[in-house]
Amino acid sequence: MPNIAWLNGKFLPLEEATVSIEDRGFQFGDGIYEVIRVYGGKLFRFDEHLSRLAQSAQAISIPLTIEAKEWKAFIREGLERSTYSACKVYIQVTRGVAPREHLFPETTRPTIVMTFREMADLPTQLNQQGVSVITLPDLRWARCSIKSLNLLPNILAKQQANEAGAFEALFIKDGMVTEGTSSNVILVKDEAFLTPALSEQLLAGVTRQAVLELARNDGKVVEERPVKEEELKQADELFLIGTTIEVLPITKLNGASVGNGTPGEVTKQMREKFQALTQV
Ligand code: PDD
Repeated sequence: MPNIAWLNGKFLPLEEATVSIEDRGFQFGDGIYEVIRVYGGKLFRFDEHLSRLAQSAQAISIPLTIEAKEWKAFIREGLERSTYSACKVYIQVTRGVAPREHLFPETTRPTIVMTFREMADLPTQLNQQGVSVITLPDLRWARCSIKSLNLLPNILAKQQANEAGAFEALFIKDGMVTEGTSSNVILVKDEAFLTPALSEQLLAGVTRQAVLELARNDGKVVEERPVKEEELKQADELFLIGTTIEVLPITKLNGASVGNGTPGEVTKQMREKFQALTQV
C-alpha cells in the first residue's frame, strides 16, 4: 500500500498532496507539527501529542478547531487506508495561504496536513553498538518548547554531526545541555537518571515523559534540573530518546568513549521497558 496524505479533510496518495507556494508554512515556516508513532495499529501516547500540538498552535496564535475525537477518527481512517500497523503519523499545521506579508492574514484558515508512512525500526546495529554524538552551540531561538516548523539550526547541526561521523548533535547553551537536534537526552550516574529540566529551551518530549515515568515506577532516582556540559563527560551512561529513535544508547561523546564504550546496562534495561510499554 502506498504512503498516504490527508490534506484539509481529504485523503489522497502522498505524491498527489500539494499546497500552494503562498502557504505561510512554505514562505515563513509559520506553523507547527507533531510526529506520532503507531505500534501494532495503536497510537502511542496520542493524547500527549495532541495536547502538545494544541499548545504549540496556541503559542503562535494559530486557531485549531479540530477536536480530539475528530483527529482520532481521521487518523483511524488514515491507518486503515494505509494498512500499516507500524506507522509514523506526521501532522503539520500552518497559518494558511495568503500573499506574502509578515502580518498575520485576517481571513486565512490553517492548512492542515497529515502523512501516514510505514515505520521501520532503526537498524539493530545502532542499538547494539550505540551511537556517537557531538556537542554544538545551541543557535536556536528562545522558545524551543514550541514544536515549530523552523528547524534550520536543527538541520544544520544534524548535518554537521553527520559530516563528523556522528549520529546526533547535542545542543549546548551557556554551558548547559538542552537537547538533541530531534531528541532529548538522559544521563545515568550511579544508577540515577538525570535530564535537563523542562524550560523554554527544549521540547517537552513525549518519550522523555514516558521514560521518566518508567524510571520512577522502577524506584530509580530521577533528577530534572539544569545539566552542565561537563556532566555529560562524567556520566556512566548516556542515551537519546525520541519518537523515532525510542531509547538509543550513546557510546561516544565528541570522539571519547562513554563509560566502557558499549551500551550501558541501565540504558539497555530502559530500552526493553520502553519497548514493552509500546506493545501494551
Ligand atoms: N522530534 N527535541 C526535539 C528538538 C525534537 O524535534 C524531538 C522530536 C524531541 C523528542 O520528542 P518526542 O519524544 O515527543 O518525539 C526532542 C521529532 C520526532 C521529529 O522532529 O521528527
